Amino acid sequence: MCGIVGYHGTETASPLLATGLQNLEYRGYDSAGIALVDSDLTVYKRSGEVESLLEVLPESSTQQRGIGHTRWSTHGPPTDENAHPHTDEDGRVAVVHNGIIENYEALRAELSDHTFTSDTDTEVVPHLIEEELESGATPREAVEAAVARLEGTFALVIAIAGVEELFAIRQDSPLVIGHGETGTFLGSDVTAFLEHTREVTYLDDGELAVISGAGVELYRDGESVEVTTEQLTWEADAAEKGGYEHYMRKEIHEQPRALRQTLSGRYDLDSGTVDVEIDLPREYLRSIEEIQIVACGTSNYAGRYAAELFESLADVRTTVEIASEYEFSGGRDPWRTLVVAVTQSGETADTLSAIRKAIRAGARTLAVTNTLGSTVTREVDDSVFIRAGPEIGVAATKTFASQVATLALLAVYVGRERGALSSNRARSVLQSLRSLPGAVQQVLDREDAVHEVATAYADSEAFFFIGRKYGRPVALEGALKLKEISYDHAEGFAAGELKHGPLALVTAETPVLAVLTDGSAATETLNNVKEVQARSAPVIGAVSGDVGESYLDVTWEVPDIGMFEPLVTNVYWQLFAYHVADEKGRSIDKPRNLAKSVTVE
Ligand code: F6R
Repeated sequence: MCGIVGYHGTETASPLLATGLQNLEYRGYDSAGIALVDSDLTVYKRSGEVESLLEVLPESSTQQRGIGHTRWSTHGPPTDENAHPHTDEDGRVAVVHNGIIENYEALRAELSDHTFTSDTDTEVVPHLIEEELESGATPREAVEAAVARLEGTFALVIAIAGVEELFAIRQDSPLVIGHGETGTFLGSDVTAFLEHTREVTYLDDGELAVISGAGVELYRDGESVEVTTEQLTWEADAAEKGGYEHYMRKEIHEQPRALRQTLSGRYDLDSGTVDVEIDLPREYLRSIEEIQIVACGTSNYAGRYAAELFESLADVRTTVEIASEYEFSGGRDPWRTLVVAVTQSGETADTLSAIRKAIRAGARTLAVTNTLGSTVTREVDDSVFIRAGPEIGVAATKTFASQVATLALLAVYVGRERGALSSNRARSVLQSLRSLPGAVQQVLDREDAVHEVATAYADSEAFFFIGRKYGRPVALEGALKLKEISYDHAEGFAAGELKHGPLALVTAETPVLAVLTDGSAATETLNNVKEVQARSAPVIGAVSGDVGESYLDVTWEVPDIGMFEPLVTNVYWQLFAYHVADEKGRSIDKPRNLAKSVTVE
């Protein structure tokens, strides 16, 4: 996600902060900034690379404390104004922030006499602190009181002009303190300062760190707590990957957090309503006759999951096309057709070409993407951001989960606007969505079992994935993940299609991985499991409830959360693909012949 750095010590802060930001560049970002502080506070920030920030930083400076940030946009495009740090009206309080402040609109409304200069959720924080300081609070009290009013996920680091301390606090977003010889470092991960110290303190949720020349003090609920430290043994390369061997595995494990960010502040369970921050008018949404989803690869499979959701929740005919095959045929009424581009990068040439065809035909267009400011967002009528944070491994993992979750929110939104979805049904969909991050975590906690099975079957001739309904795109995605990183032959099939041809390929050497959960017509798929079992194929089933475990060679349990169980199953498929590929020593993060962003048609 975004990156945070901070320094308080006896050296000049600016070069240390700049190197810290460069160390965090691997996470992906679209703008960067630094605030240097002593009795005054000076902010430097730029959209684009850290390199362009360095051009505006003074060559020599004297300040020995400061904070910095690399931003991956979630609220507002990547501009100089939206880059962090953000300040209050007097420019005395500077804040850098990772995460999402869910109630920022309500807080902005309460601060109506303040002038805001950015589109961000973050900017409310320095203004809240400013109010507290003006009402006589001490700096620590002001920070505590402001933070108490925030809802959402955050890691915040705060600097105040003329105040000796820096303040750092977290809620569901990581923050780590480095105890160096010349001072104290702060980072959203240890790569920010690993060359200076390996003695660290990880902040826990709700802990406030007060960093001064004397060192670090920690507080929880206003009470002082003990500072415990640990010694890191990681090398820089491992640290970038959070201690994981590959980005892909790290990103698989980031899914609960990514999903929380995706869903954060976008629905209200009590009323069964959703707000995905789009401007398409209700009258228009009521009038649409067809949704056409255009996307490639994994995003196409997310689109297929979504098509089922749009049909069932929003009562609108939905087609999914491979973007490179897309034509807007003349028979359809363009004005009553919403064309949705699903693309994590926002730069895929085939998807851009498809969306341009739709625009030329006069259709309304929407992008569902992870990348604010990407080409697709500049061309479509409206965009919804999936907020998964940057994905570095070539194989899409967390972005698939966040795409499906975002599209599910969109389907509920469109369904409610069209009057096609009752509040009761919406509540049950949202309840299932809300359970997703926890359910995904439960699957991740069973990684050892998946690893064992992957090792046992790694040398198989081929792998087949089967599923129905929501399980079908997950079967296709499971096969794609396995083939792209292990180079093994893998295919995904609609389970019912096996007997119409592919069954000829099934032998004792071809494991079949089946989705047997809610939302995947498990009872019918079990018949297909019996067919492959009769041909001696080993069967690995992802199962919720009581679905004929006796037919399975391996059973992986999926937590009982309803219609999004197939999406949870996909996490088993990701871990399986990862461990098969790892067993074979493949180049997992950069598979041969593939690129993260495919910018040619
Ligand atoms: C597979 C994968 C690709 C992408 C596809 C579309 O793991 O990553 O199949 O999903 O190239 O990319 P985006 O979503 O950036 O348009």
